[in-house]
Amino acid sequence: MEAAGARSRDARGRAEKSPPERKVYMDYNATTPLEPEVIEAMTEAMREAWGNPSSSYPAGRKAKEIINTARENLAKMIGGQPQDVIFTSGGTESNNLVIQSMVKHFHKVHTANGDTGGHPSPVDRALPHIITCTVEHDSIRLPLEHLGEERVAEVTFVHVSKVNGQVEAEDILAAVRPATCLVTIMLANNETGVVMPVPEISRRVRALNQKRAAGGLPGVLVHTDAAQALGKRRVDVRDLGVDFLTIVGHKFYGPRIGALYVRGLGEHTPLYPMLFGGGQERNFRPGTENTPMIAGLGKAAELVAENCEAYEAHMQGVRDYLEERLVAEFGKRMHLNSQFPGAERLPNTCNFSIRGPQLQGRAVLAQCRMLLASVGAACHSDLGDRPSPVLLSCGVPFDVARNAIRLSVGRSSTRAEVDLVVQDLKQAVTRLEGQA
Ligand SMILES: Cc1ncc(COP(=O)(O)O)c(C=O)c1O
Repeated sequence: MEAAGARSRDARGRAEKSPPERKVYMDYNATTPLEPEVIEAMTEAMREAWGNPSSSYPAGRKAKEIINTARENLAKMIGGQPQDVIFTSGGTESNNLVIQSMVKHFHKVHTANGDTGGHPSPVDRALPHIITCTVEHDSIRLPLEHLGEERVAEVTFVHVSKVNGQVEAEDILAAVRPATCLVTIMLANNETGVVMPVPEISRRVRALNQKRAAGGLPGVLVHTDAAQALGKRRVDVRDLGVDFLTIVGHKFYGPRIGALYVRGLGEHTPLYPMLFGGGQERNFRPGTENTPMIAGLGKAAELVAENCEAYEAHMQGVRDYLEERLVAEFGKRMHLNSQFPGAERLPNTCNFSIRGPQLQGRAVLAQCRMLLASVGAACHSDLGDRPSPVLLSCGVPFDVARNAIRLSVGRSSTRAEVDLVVQDLKQAVTRLEGQA
């Protein structure tokens, strides 16, 4: 027997499929679809610029031009110089590259026979020390834990404030040691949307570096993983004051590659490659360039540079409406996990819990008919019903964190979709509580 409603018969008795149920995507922090202009740019590059960008005949020259334009567009998006941008496979590679590079640089300059002009270094025999915080993405946390376990580097994970979800510049500075070479702090958190005080951290680290230079201590460089901030709020490397910045295309309607910004690449700031090969990207990241993906990334960056304020205003309007509707519908049972006093946050992210013993985030989402969302970072999807370590770090109580759901809206999200989602959540809660 066919499931009721799955098929009906048309006037001639032919089986007709019922229209697919409407779905509402609110997981734009996990990934975004490609903008049509991005698909066009990629398709054109596949057709017209298939040559090797190092070749001098037209198909190769066209590819080179596309790559150069994309690099300029990325630089414009972040207020940097095109020669300071290199293309990578994505955020994970960019983050690993910064960390590995700083460790190699420290060993080259400061270990016994290092490049200190014949003088013994005050941090001789010390391991390079890196500072980060407890709510970073796994592509920062795991390489750092790995280096610590292998005894190649020492790492301090600074706790974020349980009051506002931010890491405090004061706590970062207090963690600095003689052998500290890198501070890496994300620009905005993927689960809560909280924006970190990166400009203040950079300013204070720069001031400290002047004193350290006098004592022959290594300069501390600052990296920020801007994966979640780009395309949602203005990002400018001059205001941020950072030495490195990670760019991830698929978070701003671009393809699944990325880039790394390095201030004064190879001149002011060292970068040691992880890969060795054919010399592309000035040897910093060799391998024949992926022209179509780079073309798409450049187009996505151009759209952000031109429209970021409009995207931000739209997303904030929809997200604020979502939070209003959630509170109106669920009243005191609604806990907004990402509204911290005094902390700025991304305009699109809403992390909330509906209180109740059967209402774990995963269970609620499984009962939703339309809503497509997640309980937190995609890379933590193996946590089962254990609450997100990020939310616990931010002071969200255990029982509330267990029920967390992360909704993140995008450029095309609407208030009508919000209404559908809130109704969907309501029926999911009724069903779960009816089962008790
Ligand atoms: C904050 C942050 N950094 C880095 C990444 C890694 O990007 P990718 O998985 O595309 O390498 C992500 C993606 O989820 C992210 O949210």
